[in-house]
Amino acid sequence: MTEYDLVVIGSGPGGYVCAIRAAQLGMKTALIEKYNALGGTCLNVGCIPSKALLDSSHHFHSATHEFADHGIDVGTPKADLKKMIERKAKVVSQTVDGIKYLMDKNKIDVYHGLGSFEDDHTVKISGEKEEVIKGKNIVIATGSKPSSLPFIKLDKERIITSTEALELQEIPKHMIVIGGGVIGVELGSVYARLGAKVSVVEFLDGIVPSFDKDISKELLKSMKKLGVKFHLSTKVTAVERKGKNITIIAEDKKGAEVKLEGDICLVSIGRRAYTDGLNLAAAGLTTNDRGQVEVDDHNRTKKSHIYAIGDVVRGAMLAHKAEEEGVYVAEIINGEKPHIDHNLIPNVVYTWPEVASVGKGEEALKAEGRDIRVGSFPMRALGRSRASGDIAGMVKIIVDAKTDEILGAQMIGARAADLIAEAVVAMEFRASAEDIARMSHAHPTYSEAVKEAALAATANRALHI
Ligand code: FAD
Ligand code: NAI
Repeated sequence: MTEYDLVVIGSGPGGYVCAIRAAQLGMKTALIEKYNALGGTCLNVGCIPSKALLDSSHHFHSATHEFADHGIDVGTPKADLKKMIERKAKVVSQTVDGIKYLMDKNKIDVYHGLGSFEDDHTVKISGEKEEVIKGKNIVIATGSKPSSLPFIKLDKERIITSTEALELQEIPKHMIVIGGGVIGVELGSVYARLGAKVSVVEFLDGIVPSFDKDISKELLKSMKKLGVKFHLSTKVTAVERKGKNITIIAEDKKGAEVKLEGDICLVSIGRRAYTDGLNLAAAGLTTNDRGQVEVDDHNRTKKSHIYAIGDVVRGAMLAHKAEEEGVYVAEIINGEKPHIDHNLIPNVVYTWPEVASVGKGEEALKAEGRDIRVGSFPMRALGRSRASGDIAGMVKIIVDAKTDEILGAQMIGARAADLIAEAVVAMEFRASAEDIARMSHAHPTYSEAVKEAALAATANRALHI
C-alpha cells in the first residue's frame, strides 16, 4: 500500500492548490477526484463556465444595444446558444487540461474514483479499480452541491440547478429563478441578455443580500433595466411541471398569491457542504448541523492530522477562499506558521455592472456600533466611464472615524471585480483612506473612483464631484 505525506480528497480549487503547495514543499502528495475531470465545481460547472457565458452574452447584448451608440452598425445580431455552449466547453476543457499539466509538473499522483475513509490514515478509492492508500496527513476538500427545497423535484431538465443552466440547448422563453443571490443574478443576466424573459423570486426584500443595501439597490436598478422582473419578499410554496410548462406558486409579504408560468425554473437558493460517500465516521469525524466538516481556526478537524478546506467547511463559498485555505494547511503541515484573514477575502458578482466588496460593509459596522466615515463616488463622474458608456454604479470606502484606517470597500461599476484588488492590498497593509487618496491613479481609468472615494472618506474632499 502506497503511503503519502499528504492525501488530498477533492480536486477543486481548494484541493488541487493544496496539493501543488504541498508538492512544492517536498511532500509526497496524492490527489483523489471522483470525476474524470480535475478542477471541481469551479472549473467544470462554476466560476469558469459561468464567466464564459457571461462574457459571450455581454458581447451579444452590447452588439444589440450599445454598438449603434458608438457608430457601429452590425444589423440585427443573432445569438447562437449552441455555439456559445460549445465555446464554453472548450474554455472549460483547456482550463481542466491545465490542472492535469500542473499535477504532472509537480509530480502529484492523481487517483480517479470516490475517496472514502477506511480509518483515520487510510483512504479507499473506488474507481475503475479499487485502490487503498495511506496518508500521514489528509485534507478533505470535497466542496459543495446545490441546495433545494423539500417540495421541489429537480428534474434537471426544466427544473434545474446552475449545472444544467450552463448547458441549456435553447434560450428559454421565460426563465423563473428562485433565489436572487449570486447565481440568480449572474445566470439570470446571461439569459436576459440573450432575450429570455427572466423573473426572479427572492425571499428577502433585496437581492445579493451579502452586500450593503445601497449597492444591492443599484444592482436591482441595472437588472431591471436589462428587463429582469423581481418578486421580492416573496416565498415560493410550490413548483409544478406539466409537459414543457412550469408553474410556480408563491406568497408575497401581504400573503397574496403570486403565480408565474415559465418553461425553465432555475433553483439557486444556496449550496450545501458535500460529504456523501466519504465515510467520515471511519475516521472518527462527524459533520455539524449544516453538514459541514467542523474545523478550528487552523482548518484542523478534531483529528490533528486531518484538515478540511473550502466549501465543505464554514465561511464564504468562494474559489479563492478555498485556494487560500489550501495553501494555508499545506504550510501548517510543513511546520510553518502561515496567516489567513477571512475578512479580507473579496466577494465579487459578475453581472454588468460588476459588484465587489471586501472587509465589512457600512451596515455591519454600524450594527457593531463602530464610529465610521463613509466616502462614496459615482462612476458617472469619471471621464473613463463616459468614454465607454458604463456610467452606472459607485465606489464606497468605509473608514474608522478616528484613525482613517480602511475597514471595508463596496463597489458596483464597470470592472469592479478587478478594482476591488486595490482595496484588498490597502487593507492587507492596514492603509488609511489618505494613503490611497495620495497615490497617483492613471487617468482616465475606472480606478480613479477608488481614489476619489478615498478622498471623500478621508476628508470629504473628492475632487470631481
Ligand atoms: P469544489 O470545487 O466543489 O471541488 C470539490 C471536488 O471534490 C469535486 O471535484 C468533487 O467531485 C470532489 N469530491 C467530492 N467528494 C469526493 C470524494 N469522496 N472522493 C473524491 N472526490 C470527491 N466562486 C468564485 O470565487 N468565483 C466565481 O466566479 C464563482 N462562480 C461560481 C459559479 C457557479 C455557477 C457556482 C456553482 C459556483 C461558483 N463559485 C465561484 C463557487 C466556487 O465554485 C466554489 O467556491 C469552489 O469551487 C469551492 O472549491 P472547493 O475546492 O472547496 O470544492
Ligand atoms: P446565495 O446564497 O448567493 O443566494 C441564495 C439566495 O436565495 C439568497 O438571496 C436567499 O435569500 C434566497 N433564498 C433562499 N431560500 C429561498 C426561498 N425558499 N425562496 C426564495 N429565495 C430564497 O446562493 P446561490 O446564488 O445559490 O450561490 C451559491 C454560492 O455559490 C454563493 O453563495 C457563492 O458562494 C457561490 N457563487 C459565487 C459566485 C461568485 O463568486 N461570483 C458566483 C456563483 C456562485
